Amino acid sequence: MAAHKGSVDLEQNRAHSARIYDYFLGGKDNYPADREAAAKIEQAIPSVRGVARDNRAFMVRAVRHLSGLGVRQFLDIGTGIPTEPNLHQVAQETAPDARVVYVDNDPIVLAHARALLVGTPEGVTQYVEADLTAPERILSDPAVRETLDFDKPVALSLIALCHFVPGERIYDIVDTLLAPLPSGSYLVMTHLTTDFDPAMVEGTVQAYRQSGIEMEARDHRGVSHFFRDLELLEPGIVAIENWYAGEKPSLPDEVTELPTGAPRPPAAGYAAMGRKK
Ligand SMILES: C[S@@+](CC[C@H](N)C(=O)[O-])C[C@H]1O[C@@H](n2cnc3c(N)ncnc32)[C@H](O)[C@@H]1O
Repeated sequence: MAAHKGSVDLEQNRAHSARIYDYFLGGKDNYPADREAAAKIEQAIPSVRGVARDNRAFMVRAVRHLSGLGVRQFLDIGTGIPTEPNLHQVAQETAPDARVVYVDNDPIVLAHARALLVGTPEGVTQYVEADLTAPERILSDPAVRETLDFDKPVALSLIALCHFVPGERIYDIVDTLLAPLPSGSYLVMTHLTTDFDPAMVEGTVQAYRQSGIEMEARDHRGVSHFFRDLELLEPGIVAIENWYAGEKPSLPDEVTELPTGAPRPPAAGYAAMGRKK
């Protein structure tokens, strides 16, 4: 039976990556199929809730850094269910006139899109329901063209997204999205990797696949390939929790909370930021 929120079919009977992630972040927008998948994933990667929080904290650091570099336009694909602070809130705290287009293919994100559209009066936020694998459709969407000025730098944010598209075609997709963006635009990404703990992350990929969600972890070389024509910013392609531009922040909400003295579990993902030449 399909559940509906407004006129949106939520496809409640199968697991969705947005809702599994929402569950790991402690959110309430998930269903039994998502929680069943989440339990399998958590068996493979017991630190997954911390990984999700680290990933979200990276988004905050990365957007603050980009705002500090003067970026005022963001194309955020694979947005996820709204979780405060959302990307536009982080961008608009530095620059109230920041313009953000969110893109996701999950009906539940669409159902919650209104929460993403409340920004500053000076700024603009828009939501587009579209699939990463149809990049031309994203680029030609009227909301994208009306909100973002492609004569000025845009940050393309693909955070915890590209590992949901297996195979080589993902490189063409990302290249297509970057092609119309002017020099001085940015690509910002996190990506699951087997480099730090192969067994843990291979188990994670299997758990997602068993739940009907395609996934491919990539190694350092595979992640580097996204950035091959870009100027990679410091500190390069590093574990998500180690990506700090400048000094390591000491804010408690920006690091995974671990019991005192507990060793940090192995990293599961890479983070990186590159600038278009
Ligand atoms: C793990 S969540 C990441 C959310 C957010 N970017 C973050 O890092 O906090 C992945 C998101 O990507 C979306 N997604 C997965 N595959 C997608 C695709 N092919 N096209 C568009 N969105 C996709 C999911 O619906 C989900 O909202």
